[in-house]
Amino acid sequence: MSELPRVALLISGGGSNMVRLVEDMQAGGYATPALVLANDPQAGGLAKAAALGVETAVLEHKPFGRDREAYDAALLSRVQAAAPDIICLAGFMRILTPVFIAPFNGRMLNIHPSLLPKYTGLHTHDRALAAGDQVAGCTVHQVIPELDAGPILGQAQVPVQAGDTPENLAARVLKAEHLLYPVVLRRFVAGERTPIRF
Ligand code: GRF
Repeated sequence: MSELPRVALLISGGGSNMVRLVEDMQAGGYATPALVLANDPQAGGLAKAAALGVETAVLEHKPFGRDREAYDAALLSRVQAAAPDIICLAGFMRILTPVFIAPFNGRMLNIHPSLLPKYTGLHTHDRALAAGDQVAGCTVHQVIPELDAGPILGQAQVPVQAGDTPENLAARVLKAEHLLYPVVLRRFVAGERTPIRF
């Protein structure tokens, strides 16, 4: 019986997307959550991962100062110890360099809270509201060195409602993220690469 694909998940905060992915892998039996790593020891997602029985690790970025490549080399070493086949970035608030991206080329996914290619980077909901957009949403894409720019694997549209603030739009989009990411991961593991949109 061949081993299930092993998935390492990188977080920085509450890890609600990570929780949905871990629960979906455990329920669906299509992959093994092999590691949840945070760059912040205070990340709330660490306790959630441990409660789900997933190995956790912390690699703080502060000791590396501005040396992104040095952090990425340490991150690569720690993550590779879990022998992952796929990396899922789930609210991982670090800009990664090719030091970490290249070894996982074509095997690393990220969720971004906008309908890419619109609004790469931060403050996506503020920008969508400021632009008067009627539709917002989220995107799961493969990670390449260019920020938020890799091949799109899935998108979910979310209507903007009158009076929306960035906070309540973010909350509405987050619910869509929780539906989209597990669907995309299942398809990715099954070898699907055509984008799914809903
Ligand atoms: C999500 O909105 C995600 O799109 C963005 O950061 C947030 C992470 O939330 N990258 P969580 O840590 O998964 O709850």
